[in-house]
Amino acid sequence: MTAGVSRRRLLGYSGATLAAGAAAGAGLVSVAQAGADHGSADDAAVPFHGAHQAGISTPVQDRLHFAAFDVITDDRDRLVRMLKEWTAAAAAFTGGHPYGSAAGGLGEAPPDDTGEALGLPPARLTLTIGFGPTLFEKDGKDRFGLKAKRPAALIDLPHFPGDDLDPARSGGDLCVQACADDPQVAVHAIRNLARIGFGVVSVRWSQLGFGKTSSTTPDRQTPRNMFGFKDGTRNIAGTDTKALDEHVWASPADGPSWMAGGSYVVARRIRMHIETWDRTSLQEQQDTFGRTKGEGNAYGAKREHDPVPLDKLPADSHVRLAHPDGNGGVRILRRGYSFTDGTDGLGRLDAGLFFIAFQRDPRKQFVPLQSKLAASDHMNEYIQHVGSGIWACPPGVRKGGYWGDGLFS
Ligand code: HEM
Repeated sequence: MTAGVSRRRLLGYSGATLAAGAAAGAGLVSVAQAGADHGSADDAAVPFHGAHQAGISTPVQDRLHFAAFDVITDDRDRLVRMLKEWTAAAAAFTGGHPYGSAAGGLGEAPPDDTGEALGLPPARLTLTIGFGPTLFEKDGKDRFGLKAKRPAALIDLPHFPGDDLDPARSGGDLCVQACADDPQVAVHAIRNLARIGFGVVSVRWSQLGFGKTSSTTPDRQTPRNMFGFKDGTRNIAGTDTKALDEHVWASPADGPSWMAGGSYVVARRIRMHIETWDRTSLQEQQDTFGRTKGEGNAYGAKREHDPVPLDKLPADSHVRLAHPDGNGGVRILRRGYSFTDGTDGLGRLDAGLFFIAFQRDPRKQFVPLQSKLAASDHMNEYIQHVGSGIWACPPGVRKGGYWGDGLFS
């Protein structure tokens, strides 16, 4: 298989060679790295290997498919084999390649790759893996001999006031966050990982997101959430290495060593009561955040990115409560998406924000922040947290390594 064969170019390519590549697994990784023959920058491939996993400080893509998996085997070796195969597949997908044969191979067998991404560019696909608390210990059982390696920061999240969490949309031994500028590319990746994992993992729940609600690129236009407000104005920028080191990447001193360079992700499915919000006056809407709806400037400030004069914002406004100045400097990297999953049977949109936040230690960041918001945020009249999960995302994969090699070695 020649280096740099993209999905776009792959139609008509010989499946036999690809199947051999799939069997080799690691071989595909190197092929994927070379996949730089893509047209516009927007179509480009995001490098899979590196010190940190892609999909955290990476400029936020337009679409999300987030999946939580349960491990359904007790066989540690099978799990490790699957993680190695997932890694090879993830490197292929993010490089714009199918994993194995998509449209060739034996006529009698299903193709290795399901094929719906053939001909599509990589669309800046990133795949980010996380390990949940239940992978380390479930019902008092050390299923895979990992209990001693569980990071102290990978806590079981406490119950917050107002939570109405659906267990079927919460938790998971593993998670994979797929982000891409094309939803079909993101969905293809999750679908094929689930397929590769057959017999080892099963999808516990998953969430599609269609509009980014946060940006890691402050120089670009800030996206808006389902309430119509700019969201992500004061997020951590993906280029701000100092802030990333301070607030996002786990350091070797934080322990355990296998998490150095990794990060902890908290995901919350937050339902937004759209119909109530839409009957709310502009003044009330703006007071809820302490920012204007048009420009997005904080009360008492002129422009969107001007410093926030906290004392000018209503005491129970979201921004006043969440701002670092009122929280001992605490910051998180938000990377959430809007969702609309049809209606709820009562004529209301099942819509909201799939909140995703990366951080160095949830005990010091998400938990205190959310405790404060759950207790006092004016926005609670219009939202409810209905799903939740926390996972430890290991550092990036080095060439020749695999997702979680530090944990399982
Ligand atoms: C549906 C739920 C939510 C909505 C609609 C929402 C919306 C917003 C908006 C419009 C802003 C102002 C613009 C900005 O700086 O990004 C903001 C800021 C912020 N939000 Fe949220 N948010 C939600 C949930 C949360 C949660 C659960 C947390 C954390 C536990 C959080 C933490 C923050 C932080 C840290 C800021 C930046 C504050 C600053 O530095 O000034 N938000 N949010």
